Amino acid sequence: MKILVIGSGAREHAICWKLAQSPQVRKIFCAPGNAGTAEVAENIAIDAMDIEALRVFVEHQKVDLTVVGPEKPLIAGIVDVFEARGLRIFGPSREPAQLEGSKVFSKRLMQQAGVPTADFEVFDDSEKAREYLQQASFPIVVKADGEAAGKGVVVAQDYAEAETAIRQMMDEKIFGASGERVVIEACLRGPEASVLAFVDGETVRPMIAIQDHKRIGEGDTGPNTGGMGAYAPVKVAPQSVVDDVTARIIEPIVTAIRGTGIPYRGVLYAGVMLTEDGPYCIEFNCRFGDPEAQVALMLLESDLATICQAVVDVELDKVPVVFSQRAAVTVAMASGGYPGSYPVGLPITGLEAAQKLDALEVFHAGTKRDEAGQLLTNGGRVLTVTATGETFAEAKERAYVGVDLIRFDGAYVRRDIGWQAE
Ligand code: AMP
Ligand code: GLY
Repeated sequence: MKILVIGSGAREHAICWKLAQSPQVRKIFCAPGNAGTAEVAENIAIDAMDIEALRVFVEHQKVDLTVVGPEKPLIAGIVDVFEARGLRIFGPSREPAQLEGSKVFSKRLMQQAGVPTADFEVFDDSEKAREYLQQASFPIVVKADGEAAGKGVVVAQDYAEAETAIRQMMDEKIFGASGERVVIEACLRGPEASVLAFVDGETVRPMIAIQDHKRIGEGDTGPNTGGMGAYAPVKVAPQSVVDDVTARIIEPIVTAIRGTGIPYRGVLYAGVMLTEDGPYCIEFNCRFGDPEAQVALMLLESDLATICQAVVDVELDKVPVVFSQRAAVTVAMASGGYPGSYPVGLPITGLEAAQKLDALEVFHAGTKRDEAGQLLTNGGRVLTVTATGETFAEAKERAYVGVDLIRFDGAYVRRDIGWQAE
């Protein structure tokens, strides 16, 4: 089987790495990929959003299955374009991908499906939003409807902060059309976890619960990033919580989506808050998380190519989806300055030594090679070092041994990934 993986991050490297273990897979392409995907796949210089060029490539190369990593092409409708041509592709089509593409769509569907989520109101007029805030209680959460590069959510402590968010999103349009509508919702409290599931439209097969660290600083402080690390298992989210999230959040939303006539197929990611009243859904994503994918795929014992095909064929009930009982930790190594501005093109050394360690994989995020073959930094998050162990402590220790073997100027890592597990 020939597979195309779309995307260029550590998530996509992990997807390529896992697919390459399948005896069914003969060839993997990655578009556009990075220096890490080039070790297990053939990189193809097509942008993840160039849907037409990707379709032409797949038809020309007779690719059997396309697996989409990032949300943007899914929200833009790549699955609809491919399926209209009879091409097999793993991921939700445009309409169900709006679970991530539009907070208003997602909140309304949750409400309709009876999924526990924070009480909310929708506004497309900033004056009405201000009036509402005047009688609201704080803290309160303001969310831009559309995509805002992970910056569209403000947890406002008082009226002034909430009003600033409204002005910036709705009047100054700092997120463009994404902020023309906003959701204002009640602030929930509790630990957060990500529960991802494979979904074929009918059957839901949950993965393990994972916690990620979005903030740049230790102790979960400072600005948000694409994710500085993740780990599993999560103490506050044992199997019973995963079962609860599946039954109360994922199953009902999958049923509601099916009711709209276009079933959800692919990975559905529920970001949940474990409140005193049980799990509440904070958000849905229409894909694997990054860095959650690195943890989930290191622990997945079953064949990913078989699972992806079963999702496309609506036969997910017929294949095993088994996860190891081991622990896994992934630590991101970032460029100095990230998530602000940072240099690129710095030489990376020590990777070979790290890769020799057992139960450890280095998944590349922002890397490239120069003409001489030297590995260079090429992004904010550069690498994610992922290790497993019998216990969390063992996995964590192994991951940081790997991290400490790898060097580039200004490299930044958080040393406290998984602090909640200790
Ligand atoms: P999102 O972009 O939807 O993942 O939201 C980013 C972060 O904002 C979440 O990970 C939560 O920490 C926080 N957040 C979002 N919605 C709420 C809420 N209703 N109550 C408290 N925190 C929230
Ligand atoms: N780790 C969060 C995300 O992928 O959206």
